[in-house]
Amino acid sequence: MSEPNIILEAKGLSRHYQVSRGFFQGHATVKALNNVSFQLQAGKTLAVVGESGCGKSTLARQLTLIEEPTAGELNIAGVAIAKADAAALKALRPKVQMVFQNPFASLNPRKQVGAMLAEPLQLNTTLSASEREQRVREMLQIVGLRPEHYHRYPHMFSGGQRQRIAIARAMMLKPAVLVADEPTSALDVSIQAQILNLFMDLQDELGTAYVFVSHNLAVVEHIADDVMVMYFGSTVEYGAKETIFQQPLHPYTKALMSATPAIRQEDRRAKIKLTGELPSPLNPPTGCAFNTRCPHANERCRSEVPVLRPLANRMIACHHIETIPQ
Ligand SMILES: Nc1ncnc2c1ncn2[C@@H]1O[C@H](COP(=O)(O)OP(=O)(O)O)[C@@H](O)[C@H]1O
Ligand SMILES: [Mg+2]
Repeated sequence: MSEPNIILEAKGLSRHYQVSRGFFQGHATVKALNNVSFQLQAGKTLAVVGESGCGKSTLARQLTLIEEPTAGELNIAGVAIAKADAAALKALRPKVQMVFQNPFASLNPRKQVGAMLAEPLQLNTTLSASEREQRVREMLQIVGLRPEHYHRYPHMFSGGQRQRIAIARAMMLKPAVLVADEPTSALDVSIQAQILNLFMDLQDELGTAYVFVSHNLAVVEHIADDVMVMYFGSTVEYGAKETIFQQPLHPYTKALMSATPAIRQEDRRAKIKLTGELPSPLNPPTGCAFNTRCPHANERCRSEVPVLRPLANRMIACHHIETIPQ
């Protein structure tokens, strides 16, 4: 058996921010991302899910080298980021691309679509102008846009079409990894499925690995191979999609499932109601971060941080689950 082709690996990735608490209170640390680890195979999709504020975008920014993690290791396409020199990083950057939530903010309003899509080719390849145009026109077709769109400006497109343009731009250099941060959340529900299908078609065609970030479990149900559920900056449950959807074990995963009407009814048997709000990152709870909202929280949950460990074919961090037979 050959080794699985791991294209992206995070080991203990953390990102903490120093924030000012105001003139008299000095500084505080926001632990936006804590000790997150995963492996992603070439051509596969890891879905990262959790409510707003759980650290998903912070993770996305570390994976796309927009920021530097405060701790942990990142390995992309065989390159250990912390040890890579400037030349290695420069060569790596085109291989990791990002698609953002808001297609209105992420496209330059003064550039025609054709020029916008040609830009990555101009910066990173030696293709001639006519070869670039050829590639851009092929990509327009692949993402479901029309030839006459080549000379149009972003404002002439709908939200769904703009997201197609953003996806096309991210795919121009055939990246090994695409990180998509809530790429359908700003779109009409009727358009979301089309964009998800486009992502899946492109993955079949180009073999790109995806980290697909969403606050909505229903959105990732079809696209994911693996699912990582995050809460308050940490992984609480992580495993194969089938495992997580068929038998969610963490009370937070169960609560997310219960709160997602589009999830198949049999998967919603969990019926844990998600009440209250995320704790303030400036005043984190002791013990398990979810204990303030968890129906099973006991004394241990309020004092001891649960460790992510293997159980029933997935990784899970929960004291309660350890006490009941699976
Ligand atoms: N640059 C920053 N400075 C300080 N705090 C930040 C910064 N970026 C994110 N945070 C905080 O980190 C936490 C996680 O945010 P984020 O990664 O945006 O979550 P999500 O994408 O899941 O909604 C939030 O509490 C947020 O306020
Ligand atoms: Mg976000």
